Amino acid sequence: MTTESPPGLEDLDLSELDFWARPLDERMAAFAALRAREHPVFFPELSVPLVPAGKGYWALVRHADVSEASRHPDVFSSEPSATTIPDLPAYMGRYFGSLINMDDPRHAKIRRVVSRAFTPKMLAKTEDDVRRRAVRIVDELIESGPGDFVAKVAVRLPVEVICDMLGIPERDYARVIARTNVILGNSDEEYTGVSPDRIDRFTMARALFRIVRAARDLHRLAARLGRERVKNPTDDLTSALVNANVDGERLTTRELGSFFLLLVVAGNETTRTALSHALKLFTDFPEQRRLLLEDFHGRIGGAVEEIVRYATPVIFMRRNVTRDHEMNGHTYHAGDKVLLFYNAANRDEAVFTDPDTFDITRTPNPHVGFGGPGPHFCLGANLARREISIMLEELFTRLPDIHASGEPDRLLSGFINGYKRLPCAFTPPA
Ligand code: HEM
Repeated sequence: MTTESPPGLEDLDLSELDFWARPLDERMAAFAALRAREHPVFFPELSVPLVPAGKGYWALVRHADVSEASRHPDVFSSEPSATTIPDLPAYMGRYFGSLINMDDPRHAKIRRVVSRAFTPKMLAKTEDDVRRRAVRIVDELIESGPGDFVAKVAVRLPVEVICDMLGIPERDYARVIARTNVILGNSDEEYTGVSPDRIDRFTMARALFRIVRAARDLHRLAARLGRERVKNPTDDLTSALVNANVDGERLTTRELGSFFLLLVVAGNETTRTALSHALKLFTDFPEQRRLLLEDFHGRIGGAVEEIVRYATPVIFMRRNVTRDHEMNGHTYHAGDKVLLFYNAANRDEAVFTDPDTFDITRTPNPHVGFGGPGPHFCLGANLARREISIMLEELFTRLPDIHASGEPDRLLSGFINGYKRLPCAFTPPA
């Protein structure tokens, strides 16, 4: 196997947080340079204390490669992990062993336990509820006045909706937000207490302990609600999980906890990110806001797809090569790791005209922001689309001049392209 570093980008290291701290334009320019290369590039893995570093990974940055790898799970497997670069040590892995890190047939059977709740038909039934929540969030924003858009708006709708679907009581919402922040914000000092400049065995142990403690707490919440639903089943997703019959067996407590954790984490952080980016994008590109407001119902569908393409909330997923395989002129070997960089594929000039332009009228828009075509395509895509559409409709019809009034405070992460805070301002309605 040859290892190559990108020409003119000698100091580029996708494994280093420094790279992810750079401005978006610079990161996109680096990915454009990677796409222009004939062959994919191999990156070593970050070596940090207490986390077993693997040998490294191939960066898939072209739309065609990301799509092909997604489409062929027999060659590009999600086991043992699709969500982390290193294989998690056993004491962590047991909290995250859900369908996103599984292959078929087990993956399909587990996904089927809840997939009905995410069909457009079932989601249509919850539309009024989502709208009521969005209206209340905007009421409270108007009442409390300008401030941090992430805390006042973007965080709230997705977490309320997924918690309600799972039957998590309102008093636990803040707990869910805090735990998912630690799990997905696991590189950011604000959530881990560890500065990237001071990583040693001691600080790393503390950060890992916080992540395990957050995951364990969500498992505890799942177990508590699960016990209640066994006694008194309802029509929520936790009842579906505890009553599931997969190959003649119930899910184990661990499987229940991991599935529950996946749903609360995937169901809130990603959509929050898309909503925060939406406000920033419609501030930076006022002509796109004008186009949207001119024909909201006609254009909102395309706008949501373009927000997800342009912002790409989930930066990558990982796949593990099961057998030697040639793809677009490069041979991947059994045991290789590949990262599917959705953010790079979504700016691929071979697929998108003017890929760095935010254009809500873009058609077609075959972005891979919800994952590539294949069995792991985002289970919550329809839910996310609905939440974003409804929230933007309520915001823009009642506060047509709402805008980002400063620069975002970005999450330091190579996995989620998130904002921790985004100041917003608006003229209150008369
Ligand atoms: C999977 C993105 C919202 C639940 C995924 C994947 C991506 C993604 C990239 C991985 C696909 C793969 O491995 O091939 C997003 C984005 C969202 C969003 C950008 C919002 C804008 C949601 C919501 C839920 C959700 C609201 C609700 C629970 C899931 C689940 C999976 C998944 C359960 C795993 C599916 C599987 O492995 O079969 N999502 N997601 N997502 N998403 Fe989402």
